[in-house]
Amino acid sequence: TQYTAIITETQGRVATITLNRPEALNALSNTLIAELVEAATAFDADPNIGAIVITGSERAFAAGADIKAMLELEYSDILAGGLTSTWNGFEQMLTPTIAAVSGFALGGGCELAMMCDIIIAADSAKFGQPEINLGVIPGFGGTQRLPRAIGKYKAADMILTGRMMGAEEAERSGLVSRVVPAAELREAAQQVAEVIASKSRPSVQAALSTLQAAEETSLAEGLRLERTAFAALFATEDQTEGMRAFAEKREANFKHR
Ligand code: HXC
Repeated sequence: TQYTAIITETQGRVATITLNRPEALNALSNTLIAELVEAATAFDADPNIGAIVITGSERAFAAGADIKAMLELEYSDILAGGLTSTWNGFEQMLTPTIAAVSGFALGGGCELAMMCDIIIAADSAKFGQPEINLGVIPGFGGTQRLPRAIGKYKAADMILTGRMMGAEEAERSGLVSRVVPAAELREAAQQVAEVIASKSRPSVQAALSTLQAAEETSLAEGLRLERTAFAALFATEDQTEGMRAFAEKREANFKHR
């Protein structure tokens, strides 16, 4: 497929999607979002892909939804759902996604990073939900995912003041998985993705779906889901192989990657 606002590439079992609207700091236009969701869901369906890296440029992961495009929209346009429903399918993927964030991750950019499973930040990364400065609020999940990630009080500080948070504060607050020097970001993300892609797919998918449940169910319900998923993995060849390999002091040779 020929994309205009993203670049896709694969290296081994890892796919990378690079947001590519440098003239607008990767602002998330409708076209960019549609291409990103299409590319990501296609990689999700590809059995040869075991992890997806989503990244931007050195200066910006993404500076948010496209403000110039939203300027003309009114209540009924948003209510009709064109803008906010565009991520359908992206959040339900069972291929792990890794956001590799350098520079600005603001508004929808921060929310896109939070839709991913892992966030690796360059030391230059700046996260924020500045929508309050535009007379609106986050619209791609920020009011829900940010407090779950960093707690109510940090989240309210970010969302009500619109201030930015650097990589160090973001890591300390639990918003990012790891911080690396900016020059090593792509390589670090690729390496993490390769590690994940080398695991047995049934266990990766079970891990992801139970992690997703942790964000939206009660502890009792989540524990029930975990018990069921854990038991189900004992019906896989890869469980036998993984445990046998350990007992035989060798690397596991998983069949379902
Ligand atoms: C459209 C954007 C943009 C955006 C930057 N640009 N962010 N265009 N939408 N979100 C454009 C600028 O207009 C400019 O274009 C070019 O990118 C470079 O940006 P500058 O502002 O000149 O760069 P700089 O001075 O370095 O400032 C960087 C910045 C600033 C601090 C990131 O651009 C900024 O504040 N951007 C907006 C951040 C924001 O409010 N995001 C939240 C959006 S609302 P020209 O043509 O002038 O060179 C949102 C809601 C999500 O995300 C939910 C929706 C349902």
